Amino acid sequence: MPPADLKSFPAGFVWGAATAAHQVEGGNVHCDSWALEHVTPSLFREPSGDAIDQYHRFGDDVAIMAGLGIAAYRFSIEWARIEPEEGFFSTAALGRYQRCIDACLNRGVEPVLTFHHFTLPLWQARRGGFTDPEFADRFARYCERAAKALSGFKTACTINELNLPLFIREGFLKRQETEKGRARVAAAEAVLGGSVDHHFLFTPREAILGQGLAAHAKGRDAIKAAHPDVQVGVTFAVQDEQAEPGAEALRDQRRQDFYGVCLDAVKGDDFIGVQTYTRVVAKLDGTVGPEAGHPRTVMGYEDRPQAIAQTCRWVWERTGTPILVTENGWAGDDDHRRRAFVDEALSELHGAIADGVDIRGYFYWSLFDNYEWMAGYGPKFGLIGVDRTTQQRQIKPSAAAYGEIARANGVGGARSAKVVDVEALSSGAPVGL
Ligand code: BGC
Repeated sequence: MPPADLKSFPAGFVWGAATAAHQVEGGNVHCDSWALEHVTPSLFREPSGDAIDQYHRFGDDVAIMAGLGIAAYRFSIEWARIEPEEGFFSTAALGRYQRCIDACLNRGVEPVLTFHHFTLPLWQARRGGFTDPEFADRFARYCERAAKALSGFKTACTINELNLPLFIREGFLKRQETEKGRARVAAAEAVLGGSVDHHFLFTPREAILGQGLAAHAKGRDAIKAAHPDVQVGVTFAVQDEQAEPGAEALRDQRRQDFYGVCLDAVKGDDFIGVQTYTRVVAKLDGTVGPEAGHPRTVMGYEDRPQAIAQTCRWVWERTGTPILVTENGWAGDDDHRRRAFVDEALSELHGAIADGVDIRGYFYWSLFDNYEWMAGYGPKFGLIGVDRTTQQRQIKPSAAAYGEIARANGVGGARSAKVVDVEALSSGAPVGL
């Protein structure tokens, strides 16, 4: 019998955790981020290097997940490995990703594939990245080749956080308006052979709304042509946008400019991936940011577990399209707070589902402490820590607690997280998939 105060989720709700190839695999040498990480001075705090070597540890990592009770793994396949030179598709790279899918299936973990998560093959970035007029066709060709080669997955995301540059680019460029910043941009542009706009994160608005949305649509159609039964969607970064009384017009404008314009284009897809980390408040003085005095995470975000349910409610109201929470998480060293954050976020989501919002699954970001892009290995989002000198995995209490939630298909109730022994969970294979 489940505890009386357990907030049960609908049958079939997907309990997962997420990562992205560049952040965990290591040695992703043919992509644009790798190149930008290695110029001097760099926009990136440190290079990704071996990351957490998931390239050689995928099987063990999935065994750990399965042992914890986490039922689905959202990971990305890396275009720069699959097509390292234009037109050359590596059957070896595709074969490895098939073995990753199989490793999930063998452990009873549902694989959820992302086809693009921030990185591009360097050759595509040199052609203009998303600003290249042929970008959508090239992306669709890659999706087609990968989808035809891979099988066994039921859910796929085309592009991760397609809308993110709409709200980070301007601030990013402003911050580079110093002597050091200009030198970092110049070094990046030298290796890209063109504007810094050619990296996904810094893509201009018109390219996101043009080639970006077209790439999603063409990529989706290519995946569906190979696998008509696979559920395909795109994911968006959605902040919980709120307003002080009197500042609602600013909030509404931001909602439209950063999210609405993309949501309207994908209404009616199989699902929309919602990724939320925080809330921002539009103020009467025209500024927007975290509420003054509110606790923050190490990312500088307002620590706000309620935000994800708010954004899901809003996306549902706007689109009527089923939602997968493809990312939500908390960064910092205080694992007690991480546990509490997840509990609170899930309680709020439970309320939203009870109110009729069609949310089909939740993927905690991230399964591991990993490479946090420009911030390097500083911020720690993981349920599982990693000693990067030995690559030993260290399961945190939040991982065991989340596994218990997944097994119980519900949050709350008198559950106590068991202590989990990582050695017992891993397959014992030294290296391999
Ligand atoms: C991205 C992840 C990133 C996370 C935490 C999302 O924007 O999809 O790659 O690590 O947020 O910042």
